[in-house]
Amino acid sequence: MAKLSETTITDAVLERISSCPNSRLKQLAGGLIRHIHDYVREVQLAPEEWLYAIEFLTEVGKLCDGKRQEFILLSDTLGVSALVDILDNQGNPPATTESSLLGPFYRKGAPEMGAGASIAGDTAGEPLIVSGHVLGDGDRAIGGAMLDVWQAAPSGLYDLQDKCLDGMNLRGRFRTDAEGRFALRTVKPASYPVPADGPVGRMLHALGRHPFRPAHIHFIVSADGYQSLTTALYIAGDKYLESDAVFGSRPSLAVGYRHEAANGGAGKQTDAIEFDFVLNRALGMRR
Ligand code: BEZ
Ligand code: FE
Repeated sequence: MAKLSETTITDAVLERISSCPNSRLKQLAGGLIRHIHDYVREVQLAPEEWLYAIEFLTEVGKLCDGKRQEFILLSDTLGVSALVDILDNQGNPPATTESSLLGPFYRKGAPEMGAGASIAGDTAGEPLIVSGHVLGDGDRAIGGAMLDVWQAAPSGLYDLQDKCLDGMNLRGRFRTDAEGRFALRTVKPASYPVPADGPVGRMLHALGRHPFRPAHIHFIVSADGYQSLTTALYIAGDKYLESDAVFGSRPSLAVGYRHEAANGGAGKQTDAIEFDFVLNRALGMRR
């Protein structure tokens, strides 16, 4: 039996997976083993530090259920979710709208609403109109596209986090008309901290980082024959735009408010944002 050393142990572990029949699994596991071993050697990891890491990850796992996903938060705050997303969208044509994180607060089954309806219910806040188009390649309008929209309240809480709320709030699904146009009403979003009362929050604090995301509204835009787009619009000028705790904000997704005259100019002004989403053709549908 060969004696294991600091340098030979990595190959010894890789040898154990050499006959793995799934080549992609072998690549994924092999890469992970090599990188973790290199990391342990590089930082000369002490046993008590490794135990601390295991206890930290155990705590992260215990904070995962239907309402809270501390592992996604860990991935998000370490920039891993954003990196996976960037790689996945790398080959898209330049005109395609950039994607942005789904986050842990998406809920399926938001009510479908008519054009111009409000997703805000009786949520207090400054009114906002959101409108634009859904376009395909060559700026072709996509009629019948679906926009699934969700956001936090001006308090910074999603409905899932608000103990005073039972059902869905600040969520809705909207279809584009024949010209690819959509419109909805809501209240202005605010910047908010990601859940920071658990191990990930402690990690951010220990690393000297803040937990805030810039104000944003989430969208999943889908249409037949096109790749579904998970993205968000970020409010230009937000003080956390450059330092988003989860690395989701993008310059191309930052939109400014503009004043829009309500009631044909007679009433008071409502702020509005306008944005055209450009989708990428589904694989196999490209010409
Ligand atoms: C969000 O924008 O909803 C979000 C994304 C990542 C982590 C936490 C929240
Ligand atoms: Fe969000």
